[in-house]
Amino acid sequence: MIDQIYRKAVLTVSGQKFVENIVRKQGWGLAQRFVAGEEVDGAIAAVKELQAEGIQGNMDLLGEFVASPEKANEFAQKVLHLLDAAHAAGVMPYASVKLSAVGQGQTVDGQDLGLTNGRRIVGKAKEYGGFICLDMEDHPRVDQTLSQFRTLAEEFGTQHVGTVLQSYLYRTEADRDSLDDLSPNLRIVKGAYLEPESVAMPDKADVDASYRKLVYAHMKAGNYVNIGTHDESIIEDVKHFALAHGIEKDAYEFQMLYGVRRDLQRELAAAGYRVRAYIPYGRDWYPYFSRRIAERPANVMFILKGMLKG
Ligand code: FDA
Repeated sequence: MIDQIYRKAVLTVSGQKFVENIVRKQGWGLAQRFVAGEEVDGAIAAVKELQAEGIQGNMDLLGEFVASPEKANEFAQKVLHLLDAAHAAGVMPYASVKLSAVGQGQTVDGQDLGLTNGRRIVGKAKEYGGFICLDMEDHPRVDQTLSQFRTLAEEFGTQHVGTVLQSYLYRTEADRDSLDDLSPNLRIVKGAYLEPESVAMPDKADVDASYRKLVYAHMKAGNYVNIGTHDESIIEDVKHFALAHGIEKDAYEFQMLYGVRRDLQRELAAAGYRVRAYIPYGRDWYPYFSRRIAERPANVMFILKGMLKG
């Protein structure tokens, strides 16, 4: 409960414009702990560095909801550029995309622009043998993201597109069941947004229990699972579950955020587990940075210390 209160408080405060202005000014030096660079080259360099340690990358151009089709198309173009650049650099184009950043919810020529741009992006990833994960955003977007994921998976194949389910939402167990016919590649996370209690579990113990249940169900159904967490007790339990059920190490992977628990990432990779780091880059780092701060009280101290030094 304390965790939830802390998270809500940080997300509420960081949503205030004056706080954003202060943090942005102190900015980049602090954000670099969680963000690989402002340009695509930084992300590709980070992937290569991690690959040398047996850890794969998942690149994410930072950006969230945009209100105009022009901005959405511009953003989609930058994601296409990322895929081209990664391919040219000999790195598998594995990236995450928020559909709200490429026009979800805006209708252009009778089609949702998020889906149109999603097709361009997943199509390009497929051309290069890459993969796009559609990140999950706040709860009003879940229906549309899942339905657009289904469309893209049917058109391009689940080896080229996946999505994310959040264990804090009451609806998620039913959502996972409803996707089983696709045998989808899903990332399971706890959920990072400030959500009302009418849709999301307020108690961390329930979110954690729901997390395990979702991962186990997805594994038992024979699907590829991306275990997106830094929670060591969950990671241990998943390892034991897989062992007990004869699920091979190539049927799942652990995913963690760039700059978070690098020790654990290395340890798992050294033990032969698949590990992938989520590598954000770009200039629009503030919302992402705020969510990372909200996840852990010690991260606030890191910010305050940095500001006092600055
Ligand atoms: P929890 O918060 O219980 O933390 C477990 C342990 O890890 C604790 O010891 C904690 O201190 C440490 N830890 C967690 N976060 C930390 C941080 N930022 N810095 C330092 N230590 C930290 N969410 C979403 O809504 N949509 C999405 O698409 C995604 N995508 C995504 C991809 C990947 C690869 C990951 C790892 C996470 C996401 N998330 C996400 C975020 C997710 O919902 C959640 O907010 C964070 O992963 C934090 O929760 P944990 O599962 O790590 O557990």
